Amino acid sequence: MRSEAARSAQAAELFLARFGAAPDGVWLAPGRANLMGEHTDYNDGFVLPFALSQGTTAAAGYRPDRRLVLCSRQEPGREVELALDDLAPGQVTGWAAYPAGIAWALSAAGYQVPGACIAIDSDLPAGAGLSSSAALECATALALLALLALPAPSPIPRPALAAIAQRAENEFVGVPSGIMDQSASLLGQAGHALLLDCRSLETAQVPFDPAAADARLMLVNTRAKHELSDGEYGQRRAECEQAARLLGVPSLRSVTDVRELDRLADPVLRRRARHIVADNQRVLEVVGLLRSASGAGGSGAGAYRDIGRLLTAAHLSLRDDFEVSWAEADAAVDAALAAGALGARMMGGGFGGSVLALVPRRAGGQIREAVAETFGRHAWTAPEFLDAVPSASARRLALQLGSPGSQGGTPCRYETKPRRSRARLPSCGTRSTASPRSAWTCPRPKPRCWRRWTVCRSRSAPGRGSAR
Ligand code: GLA
Repeated sequence: MRSEAARSAQAAELFLARFGAAPDGVWLAPGRANLMGEHTDYNDGFVLPFALSQGTTAAAGYRPDRRLVLCSRQEPGREVELALDDLAPGQVTGWAAYPAGIAWALSAAGYQVPGACIAIDSDLPAGAGLSSSAALECATALALLALLALPAPSPIPRPALAAIAQRAENEFVGVPSGIMDQSASLLGQAGHALLLDCRSLETAQVPFDPAAADARLMLVNTRAKHELSDGEYGQRRAECEQAARLLGVPSLRSVTDVRELDRLADPVLRRRARHIVADNQRVLEVVGLLRSASGAGGSGAGAYRDIGRLLTAAHLSLRDDFEVSWAEADAAVDAALAAGALGARMMGGGFGGSVLALVPRRAGGQIREAVAETFGRHAWTAPEFLDAVPSASARRLALQLGSPGSQGGTPCRYETKPRRSRARLPSCGTRSTASPRSAWTCPRPKPRCWRRWTVCRSRSAPGRGSAR
């Protein structure tokens, strides 16, 4: 795993290479894994996710106009420049819709979002069901809040920020996801899983330390890409809402006894609802087991074995009742269990993405081999294995300007060398030629624009704005 200093330096270098100046800051937001509670969030139920050590950085710099310029190391050639005042749902597509949606949702919530240049980098595999989208949203949100021209009177509470990020995803991007991913990214704590009651939005940090029980969590990226926007997710959501309507309850969270589901005549709706009711119960059981493991004074090995069994039960429920699993996930779960995993299940929205396996620490190698061998037999793309370590939430990183051999350390190379005559102001605007000194255009004539740029750069000390 890269250190925070290395991540910050790489993010700053990316910004410098593209925008010709050091960023005002670098913000990191983690992806998430989910220990238990799948598709329960939009049913007002319980979820138990945790923040990963893998995440997304946003290196950002204030710009004195109302434009947002976005580039990403993972999306070369797909840079986007937008006018903040023209942002509207559905207008931006592709990866940039997520950060643009954040600017839109923050403005809608009353924040004076500033113009900004933002360079994105990530070590979260896209489409792996590890919430790279939520990480992108949350990193951008922290960056924009920190660059606010007028500091907000008080820092925005993280749960409120999660709701703003969810709104960006639901309304601006058009993906009908729940609140789990943004909450995990913004509220996770190292060594803990986050119990979130999606009805009351109350949270509790639950100690989660598999290593103490000589176990670890392994993620298997099955490389089958998942896309939440492609319809099946929305269909499951609609089915759950229909089941709740037919049962006469505000949401499936209100059902705690599966026998109540016998009133549903439609076998498909009954199965969908059964998964939700059972998964809500599994979340609470896992929380009980984790608390007993951390309070017992012993290793908690027995509790982790039970958690493993619950993981596997959840997989069967997602596969057979909710019908969101996919061939590679089923095969990875079977292979992992046969090779000694304590439990395993598909994770996230489904139809692609990752499997989460709880494995005895010493069995990691043989489980990886067994899963890889199964994929090879099917001639599937080889899976990717990642460690899932409960980690800290989104935060500002100390700005690292320059690693050995880089050109970092220059606050803004244009600041001290204004060009003569009618040259246009360098800004983090449109790149127009190959020459670094003439690579920038700005809509304003030099003198006024230049002064504003210099002023704005000199305001770049940390501490402006409201976000941490
Ligand atoms: C996706 C969504 C979440 C949640 C999960 C399924 O990750 O973004 O809100 O619904 O699927 O649990």
